[in-house]
Amino acid sequence: MKILVLNGPNLNLLGVREPGIYGTENYAALVARVKSAAARLGVEVEIRQSNHEGTLVDWIQEARGAFDGIVINPAAYTHTSVAILDALKAVALPAVEVHISDVKEREPFRQISYAGMACEKTIMGKGLKGYEEALEYLANRPCQA
Ligand code: DQA
Repeated sequence: MKILVLNGPNLNLLGVREPGIYGTENYAALVARVKSAAARLGVEVEIRQSNHEGTLVDWIQEARGAFDGIVINPAAYTHTSVAILDALKAVALPAVEVHISDVKEREPFRQISYAGMACEKTIMGKGLKGYEEALEYLANRPCQA
């Protein structure tokens, strides 16, 4: 099983960016956590980050036929991007939405998630561990073919 992990804008600044909300671990630490969780679960993983909506859409489209599932933290695009929602729906791969912070306890503009409408599961407020939980979900998900 091959899982694509996608991260949206500003997640490259983890550790520096609002550490009270997103923690002190940096993006490299997130990559290391994701890779070691994948190894433990016996799945292949690729992790990418982009600040550009179109790049994220391209990567979702390219996942079709190449990956078995997607873990996505669209960051701010969560709350604005119909394009990311449509791409996730188009490829129809099992997807899990992750947010490091507990977005439901934050500002009103963060209360809508477009991407989440195409995801089987949302994990929020668990810090970087949320990514590990998302990988576990996909790795253990019964095949629905
Ligand atoms: C985030 C929450 C979003 O509202 C925010 O724009 C982010 C990160 C999270 O991981 O908690 O950039 O997706």
